[in-house]
Formats: sequence, C-alpha cells, structure tokens
Amino acid sequence: METANKTAIQIEAEAPVMEPQRQFYFMDLAKKLVEERSKKAGRPLTFHVETFGCQMNARDSEKLKGILDTIGFVPVDTEEADFVIYNTCTVRENANNKVYGRLGTLSTYKKKHPDMMIALCGCMMQEEHVVQKLRESYRFVDLIFGTHNIFKFAELIYQAMTQKEMVIDIWKDTTEIVEELPIDRKYSFKSGVNIMFGCNNFCSYCIVPYVRGRERSREPKDIIREIEKLVADGVVEVMLLGQNVNSYGKNLEQPITFAQLLREIEKIEGLERIRFMTSHPKDLSDELIEVMAQSKKICKHMHLPLQSGSDRILKEMNRHYDKERYLSIVRKLREAIPDIAITTDIIVGFPGETREDFLETLDVVRQVRYDSAFTFIYSKRSGTPAADNPNQVPPEEVKANFDELLQEVQRIASEKAKELEGKTYECLVEQVNEHDKSLVSGRLSNNSIVHFPGDASLIGQIVDVKLEECKGFYYIGARV
Ligand code: SAH
Ligand code: SF4
Ligand code: F3S
Repeated sequence: METANKTAIQIEAEAPVMEPQRQFYFMDLAKKLVEERSKKAGRPLTFHVETFGCQMNARDSEKLKGILDTIGFVPVDTEEADFVIYNTCTVRENANNKVYGRLGTLSTYKKKHPDMMIALCGCMMQEEHVVQKLRESYRFVDLIFGTHNIFKFAELIYQAMTQKEMVIDIWKDTTEIVEELPIDRKYSFKSGVNIMFGCNNFCSYCIVPYVRGRERSREPKDIIREIEKLVADGVVEVMLLGQNVNSYGKNLEQPITFAQLLREIEKIEGLERIRFMTSHPKDLSDELIEVMAQSKKICKHMHLPLQSGSDRILKEMNRHYDKERYLSIVRKLREAIPDIAITTDIIVGFPGETREDFLETLDVVRQVRYDSAFTFIYSKRSGTPAADNPNQVPPEEVKANFDELLQEVQRIASEKAKELEGKTYECLVEQVNEHDKSLVSGRLSNNSIVHFPGDASLIGQIVDVKLEECKGFYYIGARV
C-alpha cells in the first residue's frame, strides 16, 4: 500500500471513519476542487470511463461514473478527457494486451494536455507484475487501485488530485461490502445488481478467484432494497450478478439459497423481468429449476458454462461435474421449462486436451444444441495451476479444433433461431437501431434480439412482437 502521504494523513484526521459517510466526505472535498478547476479552465471538466471484461466490471463502471458525476465531472465519449479511467479485465491474455496498447495512445493525449489525469482499476491491477510494470514504464498514470477498494474511489481521486506522485492502493482481499454509494446507470429501464462478489471455485485455468477474492454474498434485504429503489426509478428488468450465483447465500449468517432469494425478488411489484448470471453447473439445484418453472418474471434463459465435455479435462479443470451430470441438468431444465434458451462458455486447448477430449465437447454441443455459445481459446494465466502444466497444446492444433467448434456452434444456433420464426413473443425495447433509425431493437425473454419498426418512445416498454424473419442470430419483426 502506498496511500500514506501528507495530504491523506491530514485529511484522515477529520474524515469520518465509517463507510459510506467517509466517501461522501471526500466527494464534497473533490467537488470543491473540480469546481475551482473548471472555473479556472472556463469550461466543465470531463471524464471518460472505459470498461473491459464482464458484466461485473460493467456494473462497477456504473459505480465509478456515479462518483465522477457526483463530484462534478461531465461524461464525454472521447478519451481526450480531463479524467480517463480504464476498468480492466485479465481473464485472458488479450484483455491484458489491449490495455497496454491503449495506454500508449493515452500518453500522447497527456503530452498535449498535461493536467489530464489517468487512472487504472479492475482485475488486472490485482496482479503484482502488472502494477510493477506500470510503476516502472507507465509513469504518466496518476492513480491505480484494485477490485476490493473500488468503494474508496472518491477518496482516491481526491488524493490523486492533490498530489503529484502516482497513487497506488491495492488490497489483497476484503470482507467488506459498502452499500449506498452513488451509481450512474447506463440504461434507465434495466440494471445489473450484484448479489455476491468474488469466487471460491478455483477452476484450474481461471484467474478470477485471485483478482476478485473470496466469495461474499450481500444480505438479501440489501439486494431487495436496491431492486425496490431501481423499480421506483423506472427499472423493469434486473440482471443478478455473481461468478457462481448458485452458491449465493451459503456463507451468510442466516443462510439462504439462490432459489429462495429469487422467490423474494419475484414479489417486488413493478419488476417485470429477472435474469441472472453465471450459473455453475455443480451447484445448480432442483429447487432453482422448480422456481424458474413457476416464475412469471424469471427469463427463459440459462447461461450454463460447459468449459469442456471431457470428463478427464473437467476433472483437471476442477469443475466438480462430469459430462453426464451436465447433460442431466440440461434435460431437467428442458423438461421443466420447454422453451428455455440454453447458452454456454467453452474453452478449447486446455493443457493436455487431446482430439478425443475435444470430440467429447463437440458431442455435448450436438446433444444440447445451444442457442448460442461463447468459445474461447485457452489462455495461460500465470499464478493458476493450469499455467504450470507442461502439456500445453500446440497452437495449430488448438486453432483447428476451435474453428471446427465455432462452425458447429454457429450452425446449430442459426437452426435453433429459425425454429422460432413466425411466433409472437414479448420483447423489452432497449434502443433505437444503430444502423436503421426507423427500427428499434429489443430483447426476448430467451435473450434473442429482434429489430422492428418503432421509435424512441417505446424504449423501456414490453411489447408483443412477431418474429417475421430470422437473420441467423437475430430477427426482423413487427408489433402485433
Ligand atoms: N464464473 C463463470 C465464468 C467467468 S469467466 C463460470 O464459472 O462459469 C468467463 C469465461 O471465461 C469462463 O466461463 C471461461 O469459459 C472463460 N475463461 C476463463 N478463464 C479462461 C482462460 N484462462 N482461458 C480461456 N478462457 C477462459
Ligand atoms: Fe473462474 Fe471457475 Fe470462479 Fe467461474 S467459477 S470465476 S470459471 S474460478
Ligand atoms: Fe475479467 Fe475480472 Fe470479469 S478478470 S471477466 S473483468 S471478473
């Protein structure tokens, strides 16, 4: 930790110790500074938040924006802003490389605008070698913090505004969950809601448990209160977020299951749709399937990462299920909720994966017939057990299998999409179509996208739409 400096110590003497009061205190101080500086500049100070990675990061970025907004910065679309922050991801190597590449561009902006501030946060910052590299070769960065102390953003930004040296504050882990800080939502009608943080599963390829820390569930009453407030503010759809939502609540003082939480959320009046991700197959209960089948609000979509279809590889991955168990969950889901869409994540080229192992994955893909699938080439993450495995698969072999898998996944997905042609479904309108302004785009309960004639007044409404033509992965429709 490098937070201790004169400014911080002086302020801490008067700042409240309790959260979130402490952060509101720093928001006030930072706001005064922003006011002074924008008066001097003769224009408002601007900010830009760039998000990499998953929905957790997207939600965290809304928290960053909420603070920046509160202290008086105004959002802009360009990275040529007074305050730029990258919320980083490190799940695969290419996520990492993107950040270094773009930092180069930022440094040229900063040469033009020396008062510009550059901040980095998120999962990548929890890796020591990353921070070391930034400290040595990216001296123009003003502020670096990690995933565990994002609630301290107001305090850190104030510190970075009042000192010349790079501010670095990385925590190894935390048990703290700070509620009630400002959040600036991207959409007025839908919102992510964290129900838990961290992960305890340690899949052998995955860096997330190391950078997001141990699993912590939020209290149900805090989750319900947050959703009630969102609904009062116009939200009709929530996405409950966690690395493994199926183990929600196990470690609370008064344990509760994910299915029980869903039952409570279902009761919130005015809330129309409930989504969640991600479900780990090992903890998916019959109770959850039952709640989904009975629910009027839970969307007919299950994202159920497979990772591999080979029992041997699944064991090496530390996933705690085998092919048969996975397939039996899929069967149960389809029996209970016949029109449910099932999507997945698959990794190709895990160390030691043979052609036979790969064919097992392909077999599951053909049996399940996914509505869509994210396919990834295995990326070695230092610090994870799989990275030390000497049997890394040659890249040419991985690439050939990956291409074959992708083709199969896409062929099946478009066949499945075609099956719904001509049917009518409820759709939540999300935005005016980016390419054709006479159309709006919306999402069905099963997560498919449909474009149909309409205007901005429909945004946030749930309307009936007939899927007239399937275009592979989306539909063209019409209101009925
Ligand atoms: N908690 C979720 C996944 C979060 S990471 C779950 O357990 O399902 C999202 C996806 O990234 C994973 O499902 C996995 O398919 C992929 N992934 C994670 N680590 C990876 C790695 N080292 N290389 C390639 N893909 C990886
Ligand atoms: Fe990573 Fe596994 Fe945790 Fe998902 S469950 S975040 S894949 S360790
Ligand atoms: Fe990436 Fe962190 Fe999410 S590593 S996938 S942003 S939890």
